[in-house]
Amino acid sequence: MKILIVGGAGYIGSHMCKMLVHSGSEIIVLDNLSTGFQEMVKYGEFVQGDLANQELLDSLLMKNEFDGVIHFAANSLVGESMSNPSKYYQNNVGNTLNLLDAMVRHDVKNFIFSSTAATFGEPEYSPIDERHPQKPINPYGASKLMVERILQDYANAYGLNSVSLRYFNACGADPEGEMGECHDPETHLIPLILQAASGRRKCITVFGRDYATGDGTCVRDYIHINDLCSAHALALDMIVSGKKDGALAYNLGNGHGFSVQQVIDVVKKVVAEDGCNLVVEEGERRAGDPAVLVADSSLARQTLGWQPKYGDLETIVRHAWAWEKTFV
Ligand code: UFG
Repeated sequence: MKILIVGGAGYIGSHMCKMLVHSGSEIIVLDNLSTGFQEMVKYGEFVQGDLANQELLDSLLMKNEFDGVIHFAANSLVGESMSNPSKYYQNNVGNTLNLLDAMVRHDVKNFIFSSTAATFGEPEYSPIDERHPQKPINPYGASKLMVERILQDYANAYGLNSVSLRYFNACGADPEGEMGECHDPETHLIPLILQAASGRRKCITVFGRDYATGDGTCVRDYIHINDLCSAHALALDMIVSGKKDGALAYNLGNGHGFSVQQVIDVVKKVVAEDGCNLVVEEGERRAGDPAVLVADSSLARQTLGWQPKYGDLETIVRHAWAWEKTFV
């Protein structure tokens, strides 16, 4: 297969490139490097460019006969989306439309889209399956939901097949240590705790201990990056082979919730083997954080035949710690 990976210089995209090349696909990475890093593009041909550039899209899609497109490029900071919604609607919706329209013009029929748990908003029940109402509470989630809706209309009108994959908490790193999580600024729990342990950060602050959960800290569904990527590969195979068509959507998590305190405890255990420890500080709740966010991924397991391999939090933390140690 020949695949265009948009946003392939980012955290999830870079791992996806490795998996696809290892399974025999030919890939081209398109990334504007606004949040990604060229050093993370270790597989495939790299094209630096922006989805706002329609001429570039036309020339890429004209020169190459892509079987499909996987689209990771987006802004994904919930807080920033509240203060600068324009950026989120312009990039996550407007630029995605440019890409979809170019696909329609050049008759590329298969599209895998990075969606998010944030499309659901405040959970009405847990675990969250695909029937859960989608009522996003921030522009980031709203921008992703808009694209999901656009994809339904594009399936009906233009026969564009798509799979929207709604990620819960992506984490971990390449088990072989070649790549890992790299955000600037970093806002995610696991890399922040690991940076506190490696000494790159002074401490980790726990955002609230008064939630209605077992230990009072928020519960999330942490899913290993390679498990996320394997779901993308299966989803792409499913629509490229014609097994299913239309606009489909699946929730991706490992189905187990872990509290912030449980994550800290596992990290402490893992880093202690290297003689490291970390300072934990107490903070206020972060605005917009639901107490519990856990996925019901049975539909993805049944339909895609997807089997997450790294559901165990300690393995996830070990891979992420190996990556963190490359910075110190
Ligand atoms: N947390 C802390 N301290 C920190 C950072 C995070 O206690 O320094 C807590 C948060 O309050 C939250 C948990 O750790 O309870 C996880 O926080 P992350 O920021 O790592 O992840 P989120 O659950 O907030 O974000 C994820 C995805 C987003 C998506 C969101 C949906 O990463 O893309 O779920 O709500 F929008």
